[in-house]
Amino acid sequence: MNDKELYRIAKEAMKDAYAPFSKYPVGAALLGKSGKVYTGVNVENSTYGATICAERTACVKAISEGEREFVKIAIAIKKGEGTPCGICRQFLFEFAPDLKVITGEDEDHLHSTALRKLLPGGFKL
Ligand code: THU
Repeated sequence: MNDKELYRIAKEAMKDAYAPFSKYPVGAALLGKSGKVYTGVNVENSTYGATICAERTACVKAISEGEREFVKIAIAIKKGEGTPCGICRQFLFEFAPDLKVITGEDEDHLHSTALRKLLPGGFKL
């Protein structure tokens, strides 16, 4: 699966985001080593603090279905470019320190970087 395809899946997933408070829908698509793609959206909460980001939703879905290794993740927002927050960086680092992270304005303007670059010195027990 190429980066563009994965990004498209993230963009499509974004439509199901639950973001009534921030009005900032996010979609993520996480590619497992098995070849399966797990999507995620941000799910906000009236308490605000209980909100979960799209990246963690995708990762939790994947882990709970038995997938343990990941190749890359694409993240889409409505307009502009979104990179994973600090908590999501650490969350993903647990399972995939060598993950490739794809972001971009749209599918023709994608950027990719390494999770290790976004999170130098990620914590692992
Ligand atoms: N959000 C994500 O889903 N992923 C990120 O990497 C950054 C932030 C969500 C959380 C919240 O629902 C909204 O975007 C605004 O912060």
